[in-house]
Amino acid sequence: MDHPLERYALRPVRSPQEWSVYHAIRRDAIFSALLPGQAYDEHDPDEFQHRHLPHALVRDGEIIGTVRIDLVGEAQAGLRLIAIRPDLQRQGHGSVLLRLAEHAARGLGRNEIVINAHPTSLSFYLANGYREGEWRDAKPVPANLIRVGKRLS
Ligand SMILES: CC(C)(COP(=O)(O)OP(=O)(O)OC[C@H]1O[C@@H](n2cnc3c(N)ncnc32)[C@H](O)[C@@H]1OP(=O)(O)O)[C@@H](O)C(=O)NCCC(=O)NCCS
Repeated sequence: MDHPLERYALRPVRSPQEWSVYHAIRRDAIFSALLPGQAYDEHDPDEFQHRHLPHALVRDGEIIGTVRIDLVGEAQAGLRLIAIRPDLQRQGHGSVLLRLAEHAARGLGRNEIVINAHPTSLSFYLANGYREGEWRDAKPVPANLIRVGKRLS
């Protein structure tokens, strides 16, 4: 599938309307689908730390995906709660999101990405150049998730 990058942007979430789409995508794609016992909290303090940067994937002006870029230590970025709107998954948008998030991380002076992957998405990360291993992160890997990472060239 062809995904001309000029149709996409990855940028910080801004207006109240954008925040509501951001939360809806995370709630539907991750919490309802993968973490049924875990309530989604829009006011989780983790969202508001100054080194945690909520971003939206925009395609043709519409928000279709989410990622929070967390600055970890001096040189790492953690990508958190990566999600593509459920009706648009498996069309290549997630791979575009990763490329743009890696670019943004480089722009923030980062040379390494770390992700705590849900097992159902492991093959997505492997297909995008991520590898399992002892990648540095702010906290230990949560139960039932798999740590993957990538060195940025
Ligand atoms: C995981 C997710 C972000 C991937 O985004 P996407 O747009 O669906 O993925 P892409 O279309 O770019 O997939 C690229 C490739 O990854 C691989 N892949 C394997 N298993 C996959 C899976 N369960 N979901 C997506 N891709 C998968 C495939 O090789 C796929 O290419 P193909 O569709 O041609 O076979 C998205 O499916 C999603 O939001 N899932 C629910 C939430 C989630 O799991 N988030 C990650 C939590 S760590």
